[in-house]
Amino acid sequence: MIDVYVLGAGKHATEVSEYFNNHQAYYLAGYVINVDHHDHSLLKSVIQLHDFLKQYPASPKLALIGAIGNYQRKSIIELLEKKGYGFINIIHPHNYLSPTLKMGTGNCIAPGCVINANVNIGNHCIINSNCNISHDCILENYVTISPGVTIAGNVSIKEGVFIGAGATVIPGVTIGNNAYIAAGACVTKDVLPHVMVAGVPAKVKKIID
Ligand SMILES: CC(C)(COP(=O)(O)OP(=O)(O)OC[C@H]1O[C@@H](n2cnc3c(N)ncnc32)[C@H](O)[C@@H]1OP(=O)(O)O)[C@@H](O)C(=O)NCCC(=O)NCCS
Repeated sequence: MIDVYVLGAGKHATEVSEYFNNHQAYYLAGYVINVDHHDHSLLKSVIQLHDFLKQYPASPKLALIGAIGNYQRKSIIELLEKKGYGFINIIHPHNYLSPTLKMGTGNCIAPGCVINANVNIGNHCIINSNCNISHDCILENYVTISPGVTIAGNVSIKEGVFIGAGATVIPGVTIGNNAYIAAGACVTKDVLPHVMVAGVPAKVKKIID
């Protein structure tokens, strides 16, 4: 068994906790946070990052999974990786993942997803419940996909993109890094990096710093 610490202790971390139930290889050991005020009253074994680093040095018997639902998880994950900590993929058993799926590490896939042929997922992505990712899509690192998103074939999603609940992306589109797709949007053409788009069809609403 590997002791796994979940990075984050918010609502997404609460959901992710359940993916460890009856897991053959991973034991949910606790939660690591780096914020002072956090509502983690429902969770046990919450530890501040600086204490975690002192008390639990990197080891092959210990791993982490990021459960902070935005691009801000990148800096903490990079720090931990630099210090030698390993990350796992945690995948809820109720999913269809094509055997051709290629995936890095640190990814989290919630229940009810279908990921079809020849999809390539990088590292530290979050794919929330009931998402459909069709053939030949590429998701770079730190992509966050909210519940009920449909991504058609040959879509390229660059680093740090956030896609809001229920959005749809039509085939062949490229979404630029750190772009934000609002809930319910229908993305019909390429999206520039660092913009928020919303609506049907999706239009640029603002620039993201
Ligand atoms: C995009 C979002 C984050 C809003 O971001 P924001 O920076 O606070 O944006 P604002 O509220 O300032 O809105 C900017 C504009 O976009 C519009 N807008 C925001 N969200 C929109 C949406 N989902 N659909 C259509 N238009 C939207 C606003 O009406 C506003 O339009 P206006 O300038 O014409 O008045 C939010 O609306 C959203 O869709 N979040 C998705 C969250 C989600 O799915 N989480 C899943 C958790 S599991």
